[in-house]
Amino acid sequence: DKGNHRHFMEKEVYEQPEVISHALGHYVDFASHTVKIETGAIDFANVSSLAISACGTAFLAGSVGKYWFERYARLPVEIDVASEFRYREMPLSPSQAALFISQSGETADTLASLRYCKDNGLKIGAVVNATESTIAREADAIFPILAGPEIGVASTKAFTCQLAVLASLAIGAGRARGTLDAADEKELVRHLTEMPRIMSQVLNLIQPQMESLARDLSKCKDVLYIGRGTSYPLAMEGALKLKEISYIHAEGYAAGELKHGPIALIDENMPVIVIAPHDRFFEKTVSNMQEVAARGGRIIFITDGKGAAASKLPTMATIVLPVVDEIISPMIFSLPIQLLAYHTAVFMGTDVDQPRNLAKSVTVE
Ligand code: M6R
Repeated sequence: DKGNHRHFMEKEVYEQPEVISHALGHYVDFASHTVKIETGAIDFANVSSLAISACGTAFLAGSVGKYWFERYARLPVEIDVASEFRYREMPLSPSQAALFISQSGETADTLASLRYCKDNGLKIGAVVNATESTIAREADAIFPILAGPEIGVASTKAFTCQLAVLASLAIGAGRARGTLDAADEKELVRHLTEMPRIMSQVLNLIQPQMESLARDLSKCKDVLYIGRGTSYPLAMEGALKLKEISYIHAEGYAAGELKHGPIALIDENMPVIVIAPHDRFFEKTVSNMQEVAARGGRIIFITDGKGAAASKLPTMATIVLPVVDEIISPMIFSLPIQLLAYHTAVFMGTDVDQPRNLAKSVTVE
């Protein structure tokens, strides 16, 4: 049932404040601002490193997670798409742990990667939506994302719920490893608990602007997304979402990679979507924006109040989100990315929930 929404995708985008709040309720204590994770078989305090593998959007959630595990838990992370991971013959040791992320829990390559790690004696964690799935069954510890059924082929609420779970796990791992003290944990969890409210506010705020921007985007043949830090995987997620449902060619790049190739593509016909909250990387990303502007590129600037005030560069559009802590910015910045892809696809008249050539669950390799 789509309720009063035109598509399941739209419904699932708007469900995010509610499902994230539900998911967080499972992992954090809203009153004491502490994580309450049962990591079960995975001993985060003593593992030497973490291997993460997944496909598509789940891989991009894991790529954001890598930044968190490394920063907050000082836990080295090796991440790869499952179709490569399973065949790389990477050396593994039982001192490592492995995490597999899958909405459906049935993705063939992800399952094969899981089995490879299991054969090498690693303890396995599964971040899944479908808790009765094969990946969940074969794992030592299950971390449900509690997003509820996701019908739209383009993953939206599963992505942000995966992020919420990974953030909680990274904080839990940081506590276990002694890299976060009680005050750090409290502060980070407090930000997580504020997220559902901020998400509702943002969804209401940006909708009209996303709809009007979509008209412009629908005329483009190519779009480039750039970002740094956790905004880099988010740039790739933005590009994936747009290409999946609108069939517009899009690429996501690390902002710093621009001058190593993609800058050659820049002209007035290819907008560059810059994802840049006012964080530690902001100034660097603005200098990349400058390079785009100097070559006549049109910029869609997704930032926050501080970022908008700090940059004087002309843009085609500036989307101003509230200033939030770094730990929740990937979830908050996902919202304009999802809605921009959604409205562009609606405007172009594609089959948003069932885009051509794609299936919700990819059980063949
Ligand atoms: O069920 P999974 O999370 O394992 O699926 C992985 C990918 O197939 C999936 O995320 C795909 O990339 C989505 N269509 C993205 O929107």
